[in-house]
Amino acid sequence: MVASLGYVRLEMQDPAAWAKFSKDVLGFKPGKSRDRQGTKYLRMDKAPFRYMIEKGASDRFVAAGYDMGSRRAFNDQVKKFEAAKIEVTHGSDRDAKRRAVNGFASVVDPSGNVVEFFHGRDKQEPFTPGHGIKEFKTGKMGLGHLVLPAPENKATINFYQKHMGFAVSDDLTLPAFAPGMPKQRVYFMHADNPRHHTLGLYNFPNPTGVIHLMAEVGSMDEVGHCMDRVKAAGLHIFASLGRHANDEMVSFYFFAPGGIGFEVGYDGKQVKNWAKYKPTKSTIGDLWGHEYDFPVVG
Ligand SMILES: [Fe+2]
Repeated sequence: MVASLGYVRLEMQDPAAWAKFSKDVLGFKPGKSRDRQGTKYLRMDKAPFRYMIEKGASDRFVAAGYDMGSRRAFNDQVKKFEAAKIEVTHGSDRDAKRRAVNGFASVVDPSGNVVEFFHGRDKQEPFTPGHGIKEFKTGKMGLGHLVLPAPENKATINFYQKHMGFAVSDDLTLPAFAPGMPKQRVYFMHADNPRHHTLGLYNFPNPTGVIHLMAEVGSMDEVGHCMDRVKAAGLHIFASLGRHANDEMVSFYFFAPGGIGFEVGYDGKQVKNWAKYKPTKSTIGDLWGHEYDFPVVG
């Protein structure tokens, strides 16, 4: 079973601009360079880095990197995929170094999302976020959560549950965007840590390859100050402040550079004993707020 979300890879035409945004707005800090390809490594806690922003022809999400927690769990995961005839690509030593891990491999889920999984992370180093943020809520809970496009909905849910050991936290059904369209569904799953959900699967595609990424801070004031910095940077807020029904997180959403959906929140639910947890089925996303404001395209 996956221990946590360890790192995220993005491709950007201008990695430096994303790094600057992450510092000026989020309070991330640059980490040391690990390749000669212009990749920006961004830190948000003691881990060597949490975001790697690679230079490329487009602006998009590339891959999630899941921490298996141990070499043994990693090897078991490889065997599990192989037994299910899912093609596993083993990462080279050089690429492992770029990710600051001891070893990794990758697979592709049925909706086409690239899934990396690894064991062993380079040494932890002291870290203090910018903008007076005390700490990002990370550690054993991983860097936060992500919601991925999963138009091949059933098969993708099955993939993460059956082959990677994710377990359901909440199955959310929302009204269709427009008449005649299917209902929206977000299937929230947890890994082997207390965070209510590490991965969400949404039943529609997205041109950026990700629905949103989430970073959690420790107080309402830190969320509010971040919202001011988002506004000052001229970034579009697409969901106002609100509290989610399932993980009870108070958050807002905006488009980070490259059109990447980003959620900053606090007070997310932690489940100490998953054995006693009863998965929920929701029909509302929010207890209050989160009023959507998507720019009209075309
Ligand atoms: Fe979220």
